[in-house]
Parts: sequence; C-alpha cells; structure tokens
Amino acid sequence: MYNRRHFLAGATLAGLAAPAIVRAQGILRDFPFKLGVAAGDPASDGFVIWTRLAPEPMERHGGMPLTNVPVEWEVASDTGFRNVVAKGTELARPELAHSVHVEVAGLLPDRPYYYRFTAAGERSLRGRARTLPAPGAKVDALKFGVAGCQHFESGFYGVYRHMAREDLAFVYHYGDFIYEYQQNYLYDSGLPIRPVRRYDQRALIDVTDFRAAYAQTLLDIDQQAVRSVHAVLSSFDDHEIINDWVSDIDNWSIDFPGNDPESASPEVFMLKKQAAMQAWYEHMPVRNALLPRGGMVALNREFRYGDLMSMQLLDTRQYRDDQPCGDGFKPACPEVFAKEAQVLGRAQEDWLNKNLARGGATWNALAQQVTMMSLDRRRKSDEPKKIVNLDSWAGYEAPRERMLSRLGGLDNCVVLTGDEHQNFCGDLVLKDKVVGAEFVATSISSGGDGSDKRNGTDEFLKLNPELKFANDQRGYLVCDVNREAWQTHFMVVDKVTTPVNNLSKRATAMVENGVAGIKMA
Ligand SMILES: [Fe+2]
Repeated sequence: MYNRRHFLAGATLAGLAAPAIVRAQGILRDFPFKLGVAAGDPASDGFVIWTRLAPEPMERHGGMPLTNVPVEWEVASDTGFRNVVAKGTELARPELAHSVHVEVAGLLPDRPYYYRFTAAGERSLRGRARTLPAPGAKVDALKFGVAGCQHFESGFYGVYRHMAREDLAFVYHYGDFIYEYQQNYLYDSGLPIRPVRRYDQRALIDVTDFRAAYAQTLLDIDQQAVRSVHAVLSSFDDHEIINDWVSDIDNWSIDFPGNDPESASPEVFMLKKQAAMQAWYEHMPVRNALLPRGGMVALNREFRYGDLMSMQLLDTRQYRDDQPCGDGFKPACPEVFAKEAQVLGRAQEDWLNKNLARGGATWNALAQQVTMMSLDRRRKSDEPKKIVNLDSWAGYEAPRERMLSRLGGLDNCVVLTGDEHQNFCGDLVLKDKVVGAEFVATSISSGGDGSDKRNGTDEFLKLNPELKFANDQRGYLVCDVNREAWQTHFMVVDKVTTPVNNLSKRATAMVENGVAGIKMA
C-alpha cells in the first residue's frame, strides 16, 4: 500500500494530478456533488457523514451510471486537511440513489472536525461537524439550534444562511423537510401572491418522485450551507409522506373534505410510505440503523451532552392512533379522552421511561413533532367551545396526561416542538402544576413572510394563560443552555419572499434550574 497522502502531496508538487484520478475523470457527465454534504447524529467519538452523487440531480438516478461507485472520504482536524485523522472508501449504490452514509468513529470528544468526499476524480465541498462531549463529562454550556417546516414554494431559505453563521453544537430538524404538494394559491395579507419558486411535481407517488423533491430542496445553496457546518439530528413529520398521516393511515384521503375516504388503502399507503422513507433515508445524515425495514424507520433515539442535557428524539407519527373526531381543529369529542389511545406507542413509551429514569443530566429535553400543550385554538370569542388541534397531543388526553405526569416526576423538563409554523412557548401544566416548558419553533419558510402577530393572537394568548409568547414570523430557535438556566432565543427574519433577509432576536424565554415554568426576558 502506498501512502495516499504523500502520493497526492507529491502529485501536487509536480503540478500534476495523480494518474488514478485522471483515469477516473470523465466517467460522470458533470460535477457529482451538486447536493452538497452533511453530517448528523453526533456521538462523543464521531458522527455520520453524508453525500449523494448526482451529476444531474433532477434526472432519473441523478444522472449516475447504474453501478456501484466508490466514494473516498476523509476527516481532518483542520480546514486544510493537513491532519487527516480518519479516511476510507464507501460504495455509493444505485439502489440507494448513490448516497453514502459513513459512520465515522474513533474521533476525540467535543471538538470540530472537517470532512470531504472524492469520487470519479471530483471533490466535494468541505463539511464541518462537532463531536459530543464524552458520556457523563462535566459540561457547563451548550448552544444548539431547532428548525423545520420548509415548503420550497413559500419562501427562500435565507433563514438557513443566518443559522449557518451561528456557533451551534448541532441542529435538531423536527421534519417537514419536503412537502408532498405544490401550492395552488398563496395569500399574504388576504391577497393572492406568487410562489417564490415551484416544486417540479404536483404530487409525490413513488421513490423517483420523492427523490426529486429532496434533490430540488438540496440544490438550494442556503440549505447546503447550514448542512455543511452543523451536524443535524434529523426527524420527519407528516409532509415527508402526506399531510397528517399516522401509522398506516392515509389521513389526507380519509379526513379532508373533497377527498375520497373509500380510496384509502392501508396496504397501498404502506408502499407509498416505504418509498417516502427510502428517499428520506437516502438524503438524511443518519446512521445505517435508520435504513427503512418493511417501510418502518427506527427514528426515536437518545443523545446526551455530557452531564448537562439528555435529549430524547421521539417519533409521534409511526406508532400513533388515528386522529380522533375526524382530525382537524374542532371541539373535543369523547374519543379525545379514550384511555387506550397511543401517541408514542407502548414500546417507545417504555424506551422513553427507561431513558428518563437513568437521570444523570441537569436538563431533560424531549425533541418531537407536535404541540404538547392543550391549547384553545378559538380566535373569536363567539365560538361556544374550546377548539383543539386534533393532530397534536391535545387530541390524545390519556397519553398526554401520562407524559405530563412522567415529566412531573423529573426536574428541568423541556419539550422542543415544530409543526405549527409559528413561534410559541408555554408551560406544560397538569392539574394546575407546572411540570415543564414547551418551546415551539416556527418554520423556515412554510407560511410565507408572516407578521409579528396573526389575527386574533391577543385573544389566543388571553384564552391560554399557560402560553407566554406567540409570533408568526419565520426563523429558528437557539437554545442556550447552562447549569443555571435554559434560555431559548426566538430568531426571526423580516421576510422569506426575497433570498436575502434581515435577522433579529424577537424574544428570549428562560427556564431556571429547579424552577418549572417559563419566564420571558
Ligand atoms: Fe410544516
């Protein structure tokens, strides 16, 4: 074996490319790393690094030949790759859209590393990711981001460029990375507006369609920017498959007016889900354990940040019972109080309880998709009854109370949520006792520019005393955590209908160590 580093260094000195690389050039029709690079699921000794070879990302098979293609990868402790600490070769397979997921191990804890890929004589851009601190290590501070919900047509991803400039240990992405539909119309302030750009396809049906939606999303350079500098903890919500799906139920066909409940078939839906989950896996920097099996992805997992924070990443879609009362925003029907109803499912709930019982961290974070507070969604005072979002935990009172009583037995519980396309934060309350805090992150683009307050926001805040803050702009959360306090900064932009926008810190909410409940700064 020759020493590859010396070989390349020598070639560079001579002003010549290495013969092996010259031979490889020209195999592909174009630059194969157009979808960028990403890292994810960090551990104290490594992380996953991801890329996908796609010289023509919107073509079938990304414009790749239908063969396995070797991809070399390197991880270095410096940006110039003078000190390469790990390297290897991984096969990019056509069955997985020529994506590679390398589980890098053997690195040192709590520091940044840089990585890049080489294939067919071409080199990817440089990515960066941090390892987590050693298990149980005494850690005094952590800053991480929360983001999600990025309908491609509703806005540009300028929010991500701001997020890429933040100093973050990692980003939790709660899902809605793609949406399964084109928007026929968009409104702003009651007037129809032009979408900023179009998804290529009206609907997503098979794996080729789903791949194209991811490819189109990943061609966005701001999207690539954030993925190239922060390791991501990737989740999915509903729009990675279809609006409001749970378990094997295609709720879009069943529950929504104008659609045809008779057309819904769990068996057919599971095939579509399998295609969607395959494409999700192919484009996310997640470990091989998340490769779909029988259409199912083992999504729930735990991350620990030394002795400062444990984070349980939950799956509120795959094991959940059908939304009660026909889904939507409605007054609760008796089904909402069904004792046997499940949100996480028994196995995941047992797994969660075991993890929480281990303790060992100052802060207990749950990272998940849908709002846990049971908020009254009335926007007009003349509506007689409380209205709940039946696709949130508010539609499932028995598991919600079980969860809140579990959190009530612990100190310093913080729930991180997405889905609403609004910023919220509030106290989690069980029988008048505050048991935790919930921070709901707004969207990256979904919903368009937005404004500080939606119509009826003042009324909404009055109806829900546990809710401390509501805002309808686009942006992300920065969670700034130390031993004394957890602070969440609501970072917002003025607009997303232009590629470049202005960032500001709209609000900061704080939870003090040992004191359940949110204080607005
Ligand atoms: Fe969304």
